[in-house]
Amino acid sequence: MPSHRTRITVIGCGHVGTSCAYALLQNHLAREIVLIGDTENLVHGEALDLQQAVPLGTPVKIFAGTYKDAAASAIAIITVGTPGKFSGSRLDMLAGNAIIVRSCIAKLMAEGFDGVLIIATNPLDVLTYIAQTESGLPVSQVIGTGTLLDTERLRHILGEKLNVDARSVHAAVIGEHGDSSVAVWSAAQVAGIPLAQYPGVDTLPSQEELLISVRHAGPEVAALKGNTCFAIAACVTRICEAILRDERSVLIVSTMMTGQYGLKEVSLSTPCIVGNCGVETVLELRLNEVEQKSLEASAAVLKHAYAQLQK
Ligand code: 2OP
Repeated sequence: MPSHRTRITVIGCGHVGTSCAYALLQNHLAREIVLIGDTENLVHGEALDLQQAVPLGTPVKIFAGTYKDAAASAIAIITVGTPGKFSGSRLDMLAGNAIIVRSCIAKLMAEGFDGVLIIATNPLDVLTYIAQTESGLPVSQVIGTGTLLDTERLRHILGEKLNVDARSVHAAVIGEHGDSSVAVWSAAQVAGIPLAQYPGVDTLPSQEELLISVRHAGPEVAALKGNTCFAIAACVTRICEAILRDERSVLIVSTMMTGQYGLKEVSLSTPCIVGNCGVETVLELRLNEVEQKSLEASAAVLKHAYAQLQK
Protein backbone atom coordinates (compact mmCIF):
# COMPACT_ATOMS: atom_id res chain seq x y z
CA MET A 1 0.00 0.00 0.00
CA PRO A 2 1.56 3.33 -0.99
CA SER A 3 2.24 5.42 2.09
CA HIS A 4 2.02 8.84 0.34
CA ARG A 5 -1.75 8.74 -0.03
CA THR A 6 -3.62 10.77 2.51
CA ARG A 7 -7.14 10.40 1.22
CA ILE A 8 -9.58 8.93 3.71
CA THR A 9 -13.07 7.83 2.73
CA VAL A 10 -15.92 7.75 5.22
CA ILE A 11 -18.74 5.47 4.09
CA GLY A 12 -21.99 6.37 5.83
CA CYS A 13 -23.04 9.93 6.64
CA GLY A 14 -25.00 9.39 9.84
CA HIS A 15 -23.94 10.54 13.30
CA VAL A 16 -20.88 8.26 13.39
CA GLY A 17 -19.70 8.99 9.83
CA THR A 18 -19.99 12.76 10.13
CA SER A 19 -18.41 12.76 13.60
CA CYS A 20 -15.50 10.78 12.16
CA ALA A 21 -15.13 13.22 9.27
CA TYR A 22 -15.17 16.19 11.65
CA ALA A 23 -12.65 14.58 14.01
CA LEU A 24 -10.35 13.72 11.08
CA LEU A 25 -10.62 17.31 9.89
CA GLN A 26 -9.83 18.74 13.32
CA ASN A 27 -6.86 16.43 13.72
CA HIS A 28 -5.32 17.40 10.36
CA LEU A 29 -4.89 13.78 9.39
CA ALA A 30 -5.93 13.75 5.74
CA ARG A 31 -5.44 15.99 2.75
CA GLU A 32 -8.66 14.68 1.23
CA ILE A 33 -11.81 13.33 2.87
CA VAL A 34 -14.39 11.62 0.69
CA LEU A 35 -17.92 11.19 2.02
CA ILE A 36 -20.18 8.46 0.67
CA GLY A 37 -23.81 8.05 1.63
CA ASP A 38 -27.15 6.97 0.27
CA THR A 39 -28.94 10.30 0.37
CA GLU A 40 -27.35 12.63 -2.18
CA ASN A 41 -28.54 15.91 -0.67
CA LEU A 42 -27.51 14.90 2.81
CA VAL A 43 -23.99 13.89 1.74
CA HIS A 44 -23.53 17.12 -0.22
CA GLY A 45 -24.86 19.11 2.72
CA GLU A 46 -22.47 17.43 5.16
CA ALA A 47 -19.53 17.95 2.77
CA LEU A 48 -20.40 21.66 2.38
CA ASP A 49 -20.77 22.15 6.12
CA LEU A 50 -17.39 20.50 6.76
CA GLN A 51 -15.73 22.47 3.91
CA GLN A 52 -16.80 25.69 5.59
CA ALA A 53 -14.83 24.72 8.70
CA VAL A 54 -11.63 24.29 6.68
CA PRO A 55 -10.50 27.94 6.43
CA LEU A 56 -10.05 27.96 10.20
CA GLY A 57 -7.81 24.89 10.13
CA THR A 58 -5.43 23.11 7.76
CA PRO A 59 -6.31 22.84 4.05
CA VAL A 60 -8.32 19.67 3.43
CA LYS A 61 -10.39 18.87 0.38
CA ILE A 62 -13.74 17.39 1.44
CA PHE A 63 -16.23 16.17 -1.10
CA ALA A 64 -19.18 13.88 -1.68
CA GLY A 65 -17.72 11.08 -3.75
CA THR A 66 -18.15 7.65 -5.25
CA TYR A 67 -16.69 4.21 -4.66
CA LYS A 68 -14.27 4.98 -7.50
CA ASP A 69 -13.00 7.93 -5.41
CA ALA A 70 -12.88 5.66 -2.37
CA ALA A 71 -10.68 3.15 -4.16
CA ALA A 72 -7.81 5.66 -4.21
CA SER A 73 -7.90 6.10 -0.43
CA ALA A 74 -5.29 5.04 2.07
CA ILE A 75 -8.12 4.26 4.48
CA ALA A 76 -11.84 3.57 4.06
CA ILE A 77 -14.02 3.70 7.16
CA ILE A 78 -17.32 1.84 7.20
CA THR A 79 -19.87 3.48 9.47
CA VAL A 80 -23.09 2.50 7.68
CA GLY A 81 -25.93 0.82 9.53
CA THR A 82 -29.67 0.47 9.73
CA PRO A 83 -31.16 3.59 11.25
CA GLY A 84 -32.92 3.32 14.56
CA LYS A 85 -32.26 3.48 18.23
CA PHE A 86 -29.62 1.14 19.61
CA SER A 87 -31.05 -0.91 22.43
CA GLY A 88 -30.43 -4.43 23.61
CA SER A 89 -27.52 -6.42 22.22
CA ARG A 90 -25.36 -5.18 19.36
CA LEU A 91 -25.68 -8.70 17.91
CA ASP A 92 -29.38 -7.98 17.27
CA MET A 93 -28.25 -5.61 14.52
CA LEU A 94 -26.36 -8.31 12.63
CA ALA A 95 -28.88 -9.40 10.01
CA GLY A 96 -29.72 -5.86 8.87
CA ASN A 97 -26.23 -4.41 9.02
CA ALA A 98 -24.55 -7.41 7.37
CA ILE A 99 -26.55 -6.76 4.19
CA ILE A 100 -25.51 -3.10 4.09
CA VAL A 101 -21.85 -3.70 4.97
CA ARG A 102 -21.54 -6.57 2.47
CA SER A 103 -22.89 -4.32 -0.26
CA CYS A 104 -20.39 -1.53 0.60
CA ILE A 105 -17.48 -3.94 0.63
CA ALA A 106 -18.48 -5.45 -2.71
CA LYS A 107 -18.64 -1.97 -4.31
CA LEU A 108 -15.35 -0.88 -2.74
CA MET A 109 -13.48 -3.99 -3.81
CA ALA A 110 -14.98 -3.88 -7.31
CA GLU A 111 -13.20 -0.53 -7.74
CA GLY A 112 -9.87 -2.06 -6.67
CA PHE A 113 -9.50 -0.66 -3.13
CA ASP A 114 -6.24 -1.84 -1.59
CA GLY A 115 -5.90 0.37 1.48
CA VAL A 116 -6.78 -0.24 5.10
CA LEU A 117 -10.44 -0.90 5.85
CA ILE A 118 -11.73 0.21 9.25
CA ILE A 119 -15.06 -1.20 10.40
CA ALA A 120 -17.05 0.87 12.90
CA THR A 121 -20.49 -0.70 12.33
CA ASN A 122 -22.08 -3.04 14.88
CA PRO A 123 -21.97 -5.83 15.66
CA LEU A 124 -18.42 -4.83 15.21
CA ASP A 125 -16.52 -8.10 15.41
CA VAL A 126 -18.80 -10.23 13.24
CA LEU A 127 -18.84 -7.49 10.58
CA THR A 128 -15.05 -7.22 10.78
CA TYR A 129 -14.88 -10.97 10.20
CA ILE A 130 -17.24 -10.69 7.22
CA ALA A 131 -15.23 -7.76 5.83
CA GLN A 132 -12.06 -9.79 6.24
CA THR A 133 -13.30 -12.92 4.55
CA GLU A 134 -15.25 -11.19 1.77
CA SER A 135 -12.90 -8.34 0.84
CA GLY A 136 -9.93 -10.57 0.08
CA LEU A 137 -7.68 -7.96 1.73
CA PRO A 138 -4.71 -9.15 3.78
CA VAL A 139 -5.51 -9.72 7.46
CA SER A 140 -3.41 -6.69 8.42
CA GLN A 141 -5.61 -4.38 6.33
CA VAL A 142 -8.99 -5.04 7.95
CA ILE A 143 -9.40 -3.46 11.38
CA GLY A 144 -12.46 -3.24 13.59
CA THR A 145 -12.61 -0.41 16.12
CA GLY A 146 -13.43 -3.18 18.58
CA THR A 147 -12.78 -2.77 22.27
CA LEU A 148 -10.59 0.29 21.83
CA LEU A 149 -13.80 2.09 22.81
CA ASP A 150 -14.53 -0.22 25.78
CA THR A 151 -10.91 0.13 26.94
CA GLU A 152 -11.18 3.93 26.83
CA ARG A 153 -14.44 3.71 28.75
CA LEU A 154 -12.82 1.54 31.43
CA ARG A 155 -9.84 3.92 31.67
CA HIS A 156 -12.26 6.84 31.98
CA ILE A 157 -14.26 5.16 34.76
CA LEU A 158 -11.14 4.11 36.68
CA GLY A 159 -9.57 7.55 36.25
CA GLU A 160 -12.69 9.26 37.58
CA LYS A 161 -13.09 6.93 40.53
CA LEU A 162 -9.40 7.00 41.49
CA ASN A 163 -9.15 10.74 40.78
CA VAL A 164 -6.23 10.30 38.44
CA ASP A 165 -5.72 11.25 34.79
CA ALA A 166 -7.24 8.45 32.69
CA ARG A 167 -4.15 8.60 30.48
CA SER A 168 -2.14 7.23 33.40
CA VAL A 169 -4.52 4.28 33.76
CA HIS A 170 -3.47 1.25 31.72
CA ALA A 171 -6.16 -1.33 31.28
CA ALA A 172 -7.35 -3.61 28.53
CA VAL A 173 -10.79 -4.78 27.52
CA ILE A 174 -10.50 -7.51 24.89
CA GLY A 175 -12.80 -9.93 23.03
CA GLU A 176 -16.18 -8.84 21.70
CA HIS A 177 -17.16 -5.18 21.53
CA GLY A 178 -20.34 -6.15 23.31
CA ASP A 179 -21.85 -8.16 26.10
CA SER A 180 -19.12 -10.81 26.30
CA SER A 181 -16.17 -8.39 26.48
CA VAL A 182 -13.34 -9.36 28.84
CA ALA A 183 -11.53 -6.98 31.20
CA VAL A 184 -7.96 -8.12 31.74
CA TRP A 185 -7.74 -7.21 35.42
CA SER A 186 -4.47 -9.10 35.82
CA ALA A 187 -2.75 -6.51 33.59
CA ALA A 188 -4.48 -3.34 34.88
CA GLN A 189 -2.20 -0.74 36.42
CA VAL A 190 -1.86 2.96 37.14
CA ALA A 191 1.47 4.40 36.04
CA GLY A 192 3.20 1.07 36.55
CA ILE A 193 1.55 0.29 39.90
CA PRO A 194 -0.66 -2.81 39.65
CA LEU A 195 -4.29 -1.73 40.05
CA ALA A 196 -4.73 -4.11 42.98
CA GLN A 197 -2.04 -2.15 44.90
CA TYR A 198 -3.05 1.37 43.87
CA PRO A 199 -4.14 3.69 46.73
CA GLY A 200 -7.92 3.84 46.89
CA VAL A 201 -8.50 0.62 44.97
CA ASP A 202 -10.59 -0.68 47.90
CA THR A 203 -13.12 2.12 47.25
CA LEU A 204 -13.79 0.88 43.71
CA PRO A 205 -16.92 -1.06 42.79
CA SER A 206 -16.31 -4.77 42.21
CA GLN A 207 -14.63 -5.89 38.97
CA GLU A 208 -17.98 -7.33 37.81
CA GLU A 209 -19.72 -4.00 38.42
CA LEU A 210 -16.99 -2.08 36.61
CA LEU A 211 -17.20 -4.38 33.59
CA ILE A 212 -20.99 -4.06 33.53
CA SER A 213 -20.59 -0.27 33.53
CA VAL A 214 -18.26 -0.55 30.53
CA ARG A 215 -20.64 -2.87 28.68
CA HIS A 216 -23.59 -0.58 29.42
CA ALA A 217 -21.81 2.65 28.55
CA GLY A 218 -22.84 2.63 24.87
CA PRO A 219 -26.48 1.66 25.48
CA GLU A 220 -26.66 4.24 28.29
CA VAL A 221 -25.56 7.07 25.97
CA ALA A 222 -27.84 5.82 23.20
CA ALA A 223 -30.82 5.70 25.55
CA LEU A 224 -30.22 9.35 26.42
CA LYS A 225 -29.41 10.87 23.01
CA GLY A 226 -30.45 8.22 20.50
CA ASN A 227 -26.95 7.27 19.31
CA THR A 228 -23.29 7.26 20.26
CA CYS A 229 -20.88 9.06 17.97
CA PHE A 230 -18.12 11.17 19.53
CA ALA A 231 -16.25 8.48 21.46
CA ILE A 232 -16.32 6.08 18.52
CA ALA A 233 -15.16 8.90 16.21
CA ALA A 234 -12.22 9.49 18.57
CA CYS A 235 -11.34 5.78 18.30
CA VAL A 236 -11.53 5.82 14.50
CA THR A 237 -9.39 8.95 14.38
CA ARG A 238 -6.79 7.45 16.70
CA ILE A 239 -6.53 4.35 14.49
CA CYS A 240 -6.20 6.53 11.35
CA GLU A 241 -3.48 8.56 13.06
CA ALA A 242 -1.50 5.43 13.93
CA ILE A 243 -1.77 4.25 10.32
CA LEU A 244 -1.05 7.49 8.50
CA ARG A 245 1.84 8.46 10.77
CA ASP A 246 3.16 4.88 10.78
CA GLU A 247 3.30 5.08 14.57
CA ARG A 248 3.41 1.38 15.44
CA SER A 249 1.21 2.25 18.42
CA VAL A 250 -0.35 -0.51 20.48
CA LEU A 251 -4.13 -0.19 20.12
CA ILE A 252 -6.76 -2.68 21.22
CA VAL A 253 -8.63 -3.34 17.98
CA SER A 254 -10.53 -6.16 16.33
CA THR A 255 -8.57 -8.36 13.97
CA MET A 256 -8.79 -11.90 12.64
CA MET A 257 -7.33 -14.43 15.04
CA THR A 258 -4.85 -16.79 13.38
CA GLY A 259 -4.02 -18.98 16.36
CA GLN A 260 -3.50 -16.35 19.06
CA TYR A 261 -5.03 -17.50 22.38
CA GLY A 262 -5.74 -20.79 20.57
CA LEU A 263 -8.40 -19.01 18.45
CA LYS A 264 -9.01 -19.06 14.72
CA GLU A 265 -11.74 -18.06 12.26
CA VAL A 266 -13.02 -15.24 14.41
CA SER A 267 -12.29 -11.51 14.59
CA LEU A 268 -12.06 -9.98 18.05
CA SER A 269 -9.99 -7.44 19.93
CA THR A 270 -6.57 -7.82 21.46
CA PRO A 271 -3.68 -5.36 21.63
CA CYS A 272 -2.18 -4.86 18.16
CA ILE A 273 0.71 -2.85 16.80
CA VAL A 274 -0.86 -0.47 14.27
CA GLY A 275 1.21 1.26 11.62
CA ASN A 276 1.23 2.11 7.95
CA CYS A 277 0.12 -1.35 6.81
CA GLY A 278 -2.67 -1.60 9.40
CA VAL A 279 -2.33 -4.29 12.06
CA GLU A 280 1.38 -5.07 11.83
CA THR A 281 1.61 -7.43 14.81
CA VAL A 282 -1.07 -9.08 16.94
CA LEU A 283 0.03 -9.16 20.56
CA GLU A 284 -1.07 -11.86 22.96
CA LEU A 285 -1.60 -10.86 26.57
CA ARG A 286 -0.63 -13.34 29.23
CA LEU A 287 -4.11 -14.12 30.56
CA ASN A 288 -4.95 -15.95 33.74
CA GLU A 289 -7.20 -18.99 33.52
CA VAL A 290 -10.44 -17.07 34.15
CA GLU A 291 -9.57 -14.45 31.53
CA GLN A 292 -8.60 -17.11 28.96
CA LYS A 293 -11.88 -18.97 29.51
CA SER A 294 -13.83 -15.71 29.24
CA LEU A 295 -12.08 -14.87 25.98
CA GLU A 296 -12.87 -18.33 24.60
CA ALA A 297 -16.51 -17.80 25.60
CA SER A 298 -16.51 -14.40 23.85
CA ALA A 299 -15.11 -16.00 20.69
CA ALA A 300 -17.81 -18.69 20.87
CA VAL A 301 -20.54 -16.01 21.05
CA LEU A 302 -19.14 -14.34 17.92
CA LYS A 303 -18.75 -17.60 16.01
CA HIS A 304 -22.30 -18.60 16.90
CA ALA A 305 -23.68 -15.26 15.69
CA TYR A 306 -21.84 -15.65 12.38
CA ALA A 307 -23.03 -19.25 11.98
CA GLN A 308 -26.64 -18.21 12.63
CA LEU A 309 -26.37 -15.47 10.00
CA GLN A 310 -25.12 -17.95 7.41
CA LYS A 311 -28.08 -20.33 7.93
C1 2OP B 1 -20.92 2.12 21.31
O1 2OP B 1 -20.58 1.32 22.19
C2 2OP B 1 -22.84 1.82 19.87
O2 2OP B 1 -21.10 0.26 19.85
C3 2OP B 1 -21.40 1.61 20.02
O3 2OP B 1 -20.88 3.34 21.49
